[in-house]
Amino acid sequence: MLLRYSFSLFTLLHLSIFTLFFVHFTVESQSKFIQRDSLLDRTDVPKKILATSSVGGGSHLIPMLEILNILVDRGYNVTLVAPGNFTAKSDSYRSIPQIIVGDVVGTSILNNDQELLKKIFLEDADFTTMVKSFDAELYTKFYNIYKRTAEEINVDLFFCDFAINDQCFDLAWQLEKPVVGFSSSPMFATIQPPYKSDPVLGCHVTMENESFYERFKCAIIKPLQFIKVFIKVLSSLNNQRANLGVETHWNPRSRMDNILFLFDTFFGFEPPAPKLPLHQEIGPVLPDTYPDLTPALDSFLNAHPRTMYFSLGTNVFTSPQNIVILLNSCLELINQNNIDGAIWATVKTNITELMSFSNIDFPISDILNNNFPHIHITKFAPQFAILSHENTKVFLSQGGISSSHESIYTATPMLVLPIMGDQFGNAEKLELAGIALRLSKFNLTVDDIVLKIKRLLNEENFKKNSKRLSFVAKLNSKRKYRAADLIEMVINTMKYDGIKDDDGNLKINNNVLLKDWITANTRMGFIRGNYIDVYGTFIVLFLTLIVGFIYACLKVNIFLYTWYKYRINNSKSKKD
Ligand SMILES: *[C@@H]1O[C@H](CO)[C@@H](O)[C@H](O)[C@H]1NC(C)=O
Ligand SMILES: *[C@@H]1O[C@H](CO)[C@@H](O)[C@H](O)[C@H]1NC(C)=O
Ligand SMILES: *[C@@H]1O[C@H](CO)[C@@H](O)[C@H](O)[C@H]1NC(C)=O
Ligand SMILES: *[C@@H]1O[C@H](CO)[C@@H](O)[C@H](O)[C@H]1NC(C)=O
Ligand SMILES: *[C@@H]1O[C@H](CO)[C@@H](O)[C@H](O)[C@H]1NC(C)=O
Repeated sequence: MLLRYSFSLFTLLHLSIFTLFFVHFTVESQSKFIQRDSLLDRTDVPKKILATSSVGGGSHLIPMLEILNILVDRGYNVTLVAPGNFTAKSDSYRSIPQIIVGDVVGTSILNNDQELLKKIFLEDADFTTMVKSFDAELYTKFYNIYKRTAEEINVDLFFCDFAINDQCFDLAWQLEKPVVGFSSSPMFATIQPPYKSDPVLGCHVTMENESFYERFKCAIIKPLQFIKVFIKVLSSLNNQRANLGVETHWNPRSRMDNILFLFDTFFGFEPPAPKLPLHQEIGPVLPDTYPDLTPALDSFLNAHPRTMYFSLGTNVFTSPQNIVILLNSCLELINQNNIDGAIWATVKTNITELMSFSNIDFPISDILNNNFPHIHITKFAPQFAILSHENTKVFLSQGGISSSHESIYTATPMLVLPIMGDQFGNAEKLELAGIALRLSKFNLTVDDIVLKIKRLLNEENFKKNSKRLSFVAKLNSKRKYRAADLIEMVINTMKYDGIKDDDGNLKINNNVLLKDWITANTRMGFIRGNYIDVYGTFIVLFLTLIVGFIYACLKVNIFLYTWYKYRINNSKSKKD
């Protein structure tokens, strides 16, 4: 009865909704349509953006500048501070004025010390060596230049590259201006779950299938060791801060919490993990145009349908012994007809050193002078154009972030020889994605290289995964517009929530500006935020109940036992 009643009520409800909808629809079909207004009102939105990178170099600057170019098109006024004469020399970013700080790229931190550079590239450089390469004095140098520029342009928002750039975040907080962070990976810029780690720490990008010992080491011991080494850096940073009148702090993330962070990466490449609303993936950020093939490269590629491309990028090098092994492998692959040609970018290879390995069996000088018909030697190469060519079948790379993105985008399987820093992690990620195999710079053999290239060329899985990920990368490469949107969102929030100071400049508090995105737990403190009080109480109650229950059971048992014994004794005494 009740069932039938509720059923008819349900039908009635449905009917009335249907009628409503129908009426609504007929009314609408009689009227005309209007266009949704998607224009944004950008009047009075603060416009001056200061972007900074203390490392510089294409892999840091190009993605940042791609986003900044979009913002320039939308009417923002952008200035860049970075080492090397980057924007003036480029075709795409010329309109962005740059304050040049320090000499050539990448490297204001590393180039000054050739010995250290060699140690990092040629030996086993863990984070201890990396931290040693850190020069705290640079904090002051860059801080002062950023500050001067910020005052000159009357900055509204900072866009800071994450790498060795604490001064940028500090300055933004000091001047009470909004700041957006940028990094290619969330690994060190955010707190990651323990099942994600990094080869820089002597661990792996994913700890999923590691033993208990490895997981303990990577979750507890390695981070403690890292903190021990890092504490010296923090202490010298704090000295510099104190001298500059900047508030000192020991938590390296305290100026990066509660601000928007953009990560130039994407799932498929990056091992998945949950992330905060403030941490947004916007990669892969890639330019829309790239330098084309030279006529010589074009005809070489057209004449060699199975070409391997070799390049270690613009910053790193490996030992001449390793280069000799790599070249030998290349010859072997051509001899065995696995590939029919190779494009070889020498960039940082020391040719003089390499020549001393030349002999009759292995005529390196001939090869390097481009007298060998199937190997095309070039100092620099238009990498993206080479990778885009259908005849480029495999890429032997150091696994830098831009190379990885470009290789994925063009669906070119990779053999990765990581040399330093994030390249070890990238190599693991690419291998996990099923589009690459890895080499070790300490253990190169011709047989191993030949075997791996053969696998990359012949196994169907590498091709399939490359195509699948290429699709993902192409879709996600639109997200640089999303990145620009997000920066606009921050700067627009300041327009409404900023407080005018005496000079009429807007000031904000980075701890609350993005309140729509900041999760409640950050304000609740550690214990309340993690619900340790609630779960703790529950566990205590639960344990008390269990203990109470066991105690009661014991009591009852003892009582029954005594009673039973008493009865037996009684009956015995009766019988007697
Ligand atoms: C940077 O490069 C541009 C274009 O090549 C050149 O005109 C300018 O003088 C350079 N600036 C510096 C400081 O080297
Ligand atoms: C950008 O800002 C600078 C400094 O305030 C100013 O000199 C320049 O004219 C501005 N450029 C544009 C395109 O508004
Ligand atoms: C770990 O092992 C499981 C089961 O063999 C497998 O499905 C998974 O892909 C492995 N994960 C990694 C990261 O290798
Ligand atoms: C190449 O190596 C030789 C010998 O080790 C050295 O003298 C020379 O300076 C190196 N050249 C470069 C450009 O590093
Ligand atoms: C060197 O590489 C070979 C082939 O991949 C491997 O079998 C061997 O265990 C490696 N040796 C070391 C010391 O890593």
